[in-house]
Amino acid sequence: MWKDFLKTHVPESVLIPPANFVKSIQLRRARRLINASSATFEYLAFEEIERLDHQFRDTSFAASQKNYSDEQEMRVASERLKKIYRRVPGIDQMKNVLELGCGTGACSRLLSQNYRIHTTGVDQVLPQPETMNKTKFLDFIVMDAQDLKFDDQSFDLIFSFDAFEHIANPEKALKEAHRVLRPGGYLYLYFGPLFPSSLGLHLYNRIKIPYCQFLFRPEDLNKYLSIKNRGSLDKSFCNGWSILDFRNLFDKMRLSFDTHFYQETPDLFNKGPLWKWPSCFRKVDDPESLFVSFIEVLLQKPDKSPELIKSSVRQVR
Ligand SMILES: C[S@@+](CC[C@H](N)C(=O)[O-])C[C@H]1O[C@@H](n2cnc3c(N)ncnc32)[C@H](O)[C@@H]1O
Repeated sequence: MWKDFLKTHVPESVLIPPANFVKSIQLRRARRLINASSATFEYLAFEEIERLDHQFRDTSFAASQKNYSDEQEMRVASERLKKIYRRVPGIDQMKNVLELGCGTGACSRLLSQNYRIHTTGVDQVLPQPETMNKTKFLDFIVMDAQDLKFDDQSFDLIFSFDAFEHIANPEKALKEAHRVLRPGGYLYLYFGPLFPSSLGLHLYNRIKIPYCQFLFRPEDLNKYLSIKNRGSLDKSFCNGWSILDFRNLFDKMRLSFDTHFYQETPDLFNKGPLWKWPSCFRKVDDPESLFVSFIEVLLQKPDKSPELIKSSVRQVR
């Protein structure tokens, strides 16, 4: 499909500016439609789930490839590490790396193999922590990213993929990451889809209806999933944070971290339900959150304390 072709063959740096332009046009249309829609917030009827489920059944999302074989998993991990290598300087000099929300641990495994850097993967749920192939350079620990059991300044690099839209309190996790990073250490995050974006409910192959989190009552979605034997919605699965929440958080953390790179990926596709049923989106704080799906950010813990940085800024002024 051309969307996949663009993603694979054209660098993001080339795609993002025109995508942001299209986003601004779509966002204006969304604001107009939502404002003009019935003032009462509405959900669609339960029966619509089945109809739309059939309509979107054959949609293929890049994000729907979720049950990877080992080989696919290592391929994905290798693509992810390329992102880190591209952004983070001096990886080959590092001694201790931490991955937050490591899941099956493919990224940590590959990084420790490629560079022989001691890498620790933590996750609140590890499927089989005892059989996760630990080595001299690799460790997996069941641990909450919001309450890390490591000493201060233990790591040169902390990274995380697709976990910060799940972690219940991303602010706590960022503060913990800051605490356990050494001064000068890097924090690299890539995560999404954010909850209010089109695939934000993370149901992927189970219900492919874009924005179903706004179209239907959660209890109706649960009932439908249960009738179809497709599991259930797990309330703790996604933290519900929007792009505005994350922007506020990164703004707030500005004194603690230097920002080297920050990029939002516009969510331009799957907009049919938004154009058709704008009143379902009236409870969204700001329609912009419907149009951003991923965040990539590289932060660095300054070598000096925030007080010193503030005072040196004052001196320069
Ligand atoms: C979508 S999975 C991503 C896993 C892996 N990083 C990947 O990209 O394949 C999100 C992961 O975040 C983990 N997670 C959620 N909240 C967490 C927390 N508070 N502390 C540690 N891990 C957490 C989940 O258990 C899950 O493994």
